[in-house]
Amino acid sequence: MTTEFLTITGTPADEDVIAKAAEVIRSGGLVAIPTETVYGLAGSALLEDSARKIYAAKGRPADNPLIVHLAKPEDAELYGETTPLYYRLAERFMPGPLTIILKKKDNIPDTVTAGGATAAFRCPSHPIAHRLIEVSGHPIAAPSANSSGFPSPTNALHVKADMDGKIDMILNGGECEIGVESTVVKLNDDGCTILRPGAVTEDMLADVCGKVTISPAVIEPTLVDEKNPESPGMKYKHYSPTAEVILIDAPLDVFADHVNGRGAGKYGVFTPADEAHLYTGGIMLITGETDNASQLSHSLFTLLRNADELGLDTVYVRCPPKSGEYLAVYNRIVRAAGCRITKLRDNRENN
Ligand code: TXA
Ligand code: MG
Repeated sequence: MTTEFLTITGTPADEDVIAKAAEVIRSGGLVAIPTETVYGLAGSALLEDSARKIYAAKGRPADNPLIVHLAKPEDAELYGETTPLYYRLAERFMPGPLTIILKKKDNIPDTVTAGGATAAFRCPSHPIAHRLIEVSGHPIAAPSANSSGFPSPTNALHVKADMDGKIDMILNGGECEIGVESTVVKLNDDGCTILRPGAVTEDMLADVCGKVTISPAVIEPTLVDEKNPESPGMKYKHYSPTAEVILIDAPLDVFADHVNGRGAGKYGVFTPADEAHLYTGGIMLITGETDNASQLSHSLFTLLRNADELGLDTVYVRCPPKSGEYLAVYNRIVRAAGCRITKLRDNRENN
């Protein structure tokens, strides 16, 4: 199939592009769209076959359910069983990068939820995603628009690299603002549990929710119960470029010594711009400024893709903190590294 690549230009002509994309959605086709988190691979959440096509295009295991994207939080009434806590969270965080799991109604086909009794709901704040849902008149099922297992796409060229020839249309709306996928939560009697961390953090949720727990699999991916994961996406290898990602937990100087001491080969280092001078070789993959979690999130998936574009065999990454805004980055990078963390301490302290 030929994939149409259309750019949103910020002019009234955009409405024609949206109308065309909405017709593709209504007729059961697939359109990749920008959201504020990452690009999504959108199909109607009301048509069984659209979900099947999504799984096929991504090469995604069919037991990993899709998020249902809505134009406004109240629309969840039509497709799921809302609760007072859903509305409290929606009031604060929707539209935006929060996904909430609810019991689903029968009008959402089993192909969308992988046969499960629940569905995940999110209202994207990105104007293109929002407008497409409105104009199509359908709720939209959309996973990240990458080939399964690879880094999520944060611009339309990433999508083209993975999806050209496999879907009907790509809407190019520039770079995604946030760069990591939405926070996914399930609701409990006394609060909520984070199943996937994102830009809506534990502290932000605690402001509204009372008790917030973090699923152990978020921090220790090896703890996922393969037969019964809370969120099926937890159990898959994820976000990995072909290059090997080596995640190292070490003080900065020890990390730099380790990288500088490695042998030949084509390698890269994730580094803030102002620390790049510490490295004597390798390709610098610049993550932004030191201690800037938003810039790191924003650049994470692009840098992982750059590693392959540059033909690197290894990428060294210093382990980010496991808290606040950094938790989302930690959660992605530890999976990209195949759940392996190398711990290095400063031997010189003992001399
Ligand atoms: O920011 C995002 O959430 C992006 C954009 C496109 O909206 N979408 C996204 O979708 O990241 P995807 O399919 O790549 O990730 C959805 C995650 C998966 O880990 C999946 O297992 C989990 O949400 N999920 C979906 N429905 C669920 C459900 N009913 N119960 C538990 N987990 C669910
Ligand atoms: Mg994904």
